[in-house]
Amino acid sequence: MAGSGTAHMRTAAERVLVVDDMVVEFPVGRKQVVHAVSGMNLDLLPGETLGILGESGCGKSSAGRAVMQMPKPTSGRVSLGKRELTGLKVRELRGARARMQMIMQDPISSLNPRRKVRDLVAEGLAIWGYDGDDKDASIRETLEAVGLDPDVVWDRRPHELSGGQCQRVCIARALMMNPDVLICDEPVSSLDVSVQAQILNLLERTKENYDLSMIFIAHDVSVVKNISDRVMVLYLGKTCEVLPSGGLQDEALHPYTRMLISSIPGEEARAETPESPHDEVEVPLSASATELPSPLNPPSGCRFRTRCPLATDLCAAEEPVMREVGAGHFLACHHVAVPDGDAPRLTVLSDEENVAG
Ligand SMILES: Nc1ncnc2c1ncn2[C@@H]1O[C@H](COP(=O)(O)OP(=O)(O)OP(=O)(O)O)[C@@H](O)[C@H]1O
Ligand code: SF4
Ligand SMILES: [Mg+2]
Repeated sequence: MAGSGTAHMRTAAERVLVVDDMVVEFPVGRKQVVHAVSGMNLDLLPGETLGILGESGCGKSSAGRAVMQMPKPTSGRVSLGKRELTGLKVRELRGARARMQMIMQDPISSLNPRRKVRDLVAEGLAIWGYDGDDKDASIRETLEAVGLDPDVVWDRRPHELSGGQCQRVCIARALMMNPDVLICDEPVSSLDVSVQAQILNLLERTKENYDLSMIFIAHDVSVVKNISDRVMVLYLGKTCEVLPSGGLQDEALHPYTRMLISSIPGEEARAETPESPHDEVEVPLSASATELPSPLNPPSGCRFRTRCPLATDLCAAEEPVMREVGAGHFLACHHVAVPDGDAPRLTVLSDEENVAG
């Protein structure tokens, strides 16, 4: 299936979250449609962090929100544990969805400015109608877990806190719901550099302490690589590569992934010269720093073809199918060959050779 990921590789019993062929489209005007996410598959194991990487506008937030059913995807299925969320009615969905929480990019605007920290952290509990005697103790405990002193912040409102403190409040609010899955959408990109590492450390610690699985969305390759177990690379709404994050720099093969890696300082040279069995071929993968095409009218065939230095007629005519090219390594590109007993590599076969192969 084009654009498929890894969902079929693991048994249903061990997966916390499964996303199957998810499509997110936004109608614009009478006739046009934004193709934000086109046939995404993913799965998440207990305790795993899956990074979703891609440049601005490639559909990361749309995917994260659709997984949360905010709003529901246009089509496809999302299952949290054994429950399929996409088929639930609004009332049923509220409870089921609570086990999955989302942390947004801009913490200040995701907090109601009129509410105090103690009320903000307890906000989600209204879903359960919970107002037990131990509520305050539980809020205090959670605030401490995210590195905030309850005695100091208890009655403060968001404008009296720093950006980092607001993000800690958002994390506390999510933890109060005792989630299985935390979806973090660029949780540090609006924060000062000095605070970013603290929040990333907090998220990692929190994941361990609260036994969470995590989806970590970002456009920064280094951040995603460091925090994730696996990375999914998204381009214009399509998954182009999924691989263990440890192999991101040396084993990633998709030309788009290589282009993203070339944006890391010091990685330009390595990204530009992937191994090729055709010695005469030079592949300047960092050269195509052109703009993302419009998701209103995505390119035919491979969506990356208008920026890909390896693109051929085949790339315009046919959408590449997602294939497994190594252990836990999947990608969709016509020009990645997997020679028998050898490591997969980028090749520039002619279209005739490619089709024959
Ligand atoms: N509600 C909406 N209505 C119409 N188009 C939308 C809507 N939400 C997102 N889009 C469009 O969908 C595409 C994907 O947007 P999305 O916000 O998911 O990308 P992103 O990868 O999260 O980008 P960024 O890194 O800038 O946050 C973009 O072209 C965006 O303009
Ligand atoms: S399928 Fe073609 S256009 Fe797409 S990434 Fe591969 S070589 Fe480039
Ligand atoms: Mg976004």
